Amino acid sequence: MDIQNKRIVLVTGATGGLGTAMCKKLSDDGYHVVGNYRNVEKAKIWKDQLIKDGYGKIDMYEADVADYDSVGKMIEKIEAELGPIDTLVNNAGITRDGAFRKMTVENWKAVLSSNLDSVFNCTRHVINGMIDRGFGRVINISSVNGQRGQFGQANYSAAKAGMHGFTKTLAMEVANKGVTVNTISPGYIGTDMVMAVKEEIRNQIIAQIPLGRLGGTEEVAHLVSFLASANASFITGANISINGGQHVY
Ligand code: CAA
Repeated sequence: MDIQNKRIVLVTGATGGLGTAMCKKLSDDGYHVVGNYRNVEKAKIWKDQLIKDGYGKIDMYEADVADYDSVGKMIEKIEAELGPIDTLVNNAGITRDGAFRKMTVENWKAVLSSNLDSVFNCTRHVINGMIDRGFGRVINISSVNGQRGQFGQANYSAAKAGMHGFTKTLAMEVANKGVTVNTISPGYIGTDMVMAVKEEIRNQIIAQIPLGRLGGTEEVAHLVSFLASANASFITGANISINGGQHVY
């Protein structure tokens, strides 16, 4: 397929474990994938690895998703150089875990701005183009901990729960324009973010997962690719769990 005819997918936070798996899967499925990054050094290493793995065609663009203007410049550049963004995966996120009674305002703001303001910043810059073209997909990567809470994650759980509130409202507003908006809530997946949790605590968490293991990044990536596809056009405003049975409701 000519690259001009491919749908362009922007994945934020592309250099992380989930982001990388999503970029690869979406590229395998024929999308023109654009990965967003913030850390230039990490992005260089990432790109070299992608080339070695046969994914050199994935494009990369820098922006701090917590910064509205930085995102605006990035999206303007992508659309001028490659074409319109049809699918946005709001995947970028950070943790600053700690019991709430000790949580600093800096750690509250850092998590809220990177994990929730980012969803506004990125979506706001692409939504009108999607509406005008009559097609779009917004996929928000939330967390089981936004659905159920987690000791030490008042900031992260608040941001992740907020993402789904956003999903539900925007889904209603754009449903008749061919644009779907959905949340995916992964449980504990084998990423650096989860591996940064102390081993002892992580093992306690794994013990609470009925499947008895962490999830694979590629398992989440398959779900993202399905939601991006035409086959998923009747799914909107949903919050799809992928957590090994850790939280059922
Ligand atoms: N439940 C109940 N009490 C707990 C607890 C828990 N899970 N964890 C700690 N406590 C208690 C401690 O026993 C201690 O009690 P006392 O004051 O009576 O002694 C008190 O809470 C404070 O403990 P700490 O001083 O150790 O607390 P802390 O501020 O250092 O924070 C923590 C501890 C860093 C939050 C640690 O509990 C932790 O790492 N928890 C895991 C957090 C987690 O799951 N993060 C997920 C990261 S991955 C991710 O986010 C991806 C995703 O979407 C799933």
